[in-house]
Amino acid sequence: MKRLLILAIILLPCMASAQGNKLAMTPPMGWASWNKFGCKVSDAVVRAQADAMASNGMREAGYTYINIDDCWQGKRDANGVLQPNEKFPDMKALADYVHSKGLKLGMYTSPGPKTCARFEGSYQHEEQDAKMFADWGVDYLKYDWCTASDVYKLEQMPEVYKKMSDALKATGRPIVYSICQYGWNEVWKWGAAAGGNLWRTTGDIEPNFFSMVYIGMNQSGLEQYAGPGRWNDPDMLEVGNGRFTQNENRYHMSLWAMLSAPLIAGNDLTQMKPEVLEVLTNKEVIAIDQDPLGKQAKRIRQIGPLSIWVKEMSDGSRVVGFFSINGQPTKGSIDLKELGMGKRVQISDIWEKKDLGIVENSFSTAVPARGVTLVRIAKAK
Ligand code: GLA
Repeated sequence: MKRLLILAIILLPCMASAQGNKLAMTPPMGWASWNKFGCKVSDAVVRAQADAMASNGMREAGYTYINIDDCWQGKRDANGVLQPNEKFPDMKALADYVHSKGLKLGMYTSPGPKTCARFEGSYQHEEQDAKMFADWGVDYLKYDWCTASDVYKLEQMPEVYKKMSDALKATGRPIVYSICQYGWNEVWKWGAAAGGNLWRTTGDIEPNFFSMVYIGMNQSGLEQYAGPGRWNDPDMLEVGNGRFTQNENRYHMSLWAMLSAPLIAGNDLTQMKPEVLEVLTNKEVIAIDQDPLGKQAKRIRQIGPLSIWVKEMSDGSRVVGFFSINGQPTKGSIDLKELGMGKRVQISDIWEKKDLGIVENSFSTAVPARGVTLVRIAKAK
């Protein structure tokens, strides 16, 4: 009996952490302030983005989180309570407002003394800040390493991240936990054990095609680490930012969906062109990202500018993405045997919204210039 008790005491905490917090069973979807607004974020900006998301079809498409990134912080008061700065007069009221739109609120802090934009971090105030976030009604926290190297060694990352995860759990409020430390120390190997629902796998994305392609392609090989409740995060979307053409927007959205990546829009939702909204809310593409099986795509081939990825879906079908960085249309083809679905399949083109009917043996397509062909392949009935 005594032995059993000891065994239970040893095993229970391990089992609890292996099961995680049961949040983000599909990759989180939402919007975050950083990519477009940087430090120009304010209460008014956040409300306007929430209004847009709740009225332009994004909420119905699955977008849920409105995330305030860096630059919301003021100073700590005499009791150590972190106050928002003058751009955020009442954080609780803002959270209530976001919730009243049927959305959830995300916040941002750092384990270091300062955030990356040099605002107050949570160093030595972890429990206090976690409690404050929970009291405000926060539903998601991005915890960004930034200046933590001034006070911790890099090897301490897992324990530093676990500390905030424990503090969040102790509040009793369900809070999605987003680890951000740029993919250092192979975070994909320990991010889930540290309590993370998602972890950044790379440095910061920039609003240009090649930054996005570089980051996206570098996710190859990380597929074994993702699954329900635990996602690789190649950073927030730049769809609709910079000079992304429509082909490039589609490439970006398709690749992130194939990667089962968090879909956190980073553009100004109040100023978006209809074709950008169309990319962000494409139902079939979102269904690829949100598939309950949670299998991140695998790259099966790279031939010059063309790269081919396959994602297994829960209904037994496969999605194949032909991604090209060529400035001209490029031929892409695949031998159907490779998919292990027999040589007679049913194919539909997702962006073209076209049923291509029964195809035998092999499939070829003209991949648009700096663009993507995305097809769903099912066994022929
Ligand atoms: C880091 C992160 C970014 C963003 C900024 C804010 O660079 O990687 O995503 O949060 O900090 O300062």
